[in-house]
Amino acid sequence: MKPVKKPYEIRQLLVCANLRDPVTGKASCGQNGAQALVDQLKKTVKERGLKGRYVVTKTGCLDICPDKGCIVGFQPEGEFFHSECTPEAGEVLLARLVASGASE
Ligand code: FES
Repeated sequence: MKPVKKPYEIRQLLVCANLRDPVTGKASCGQNGAQALVDQLKKTVKERGLKGRYVVTKTGCLDICPDKGCIVGFQPEGEFFHSECTPEAGEVLLARLVASGASE
């Protein structure tokens, strides 16, 4: 295996969309609408020509499991946030992700 270097840094938005069986009685981001947030973020990144430099990644459980909303992580910062799963929240997250990379 040979390492590959990209000519620019990729910023990544991790969105937990784990869908846990309701029988467990434990909440999950997937039950709270995270898939819609993932879809919206991916669509917005593509529409704004940010694809490649900004990546939206759907993940499994990040082991934080909120009762409402979903867990979102920024990479490479390693910061995690509890977010609503609304289009408005998606706009805020994307703006913050882009701003976090603006100083590079
Ligand atoms: S289900 Fe999303 S963090 Fe656990």
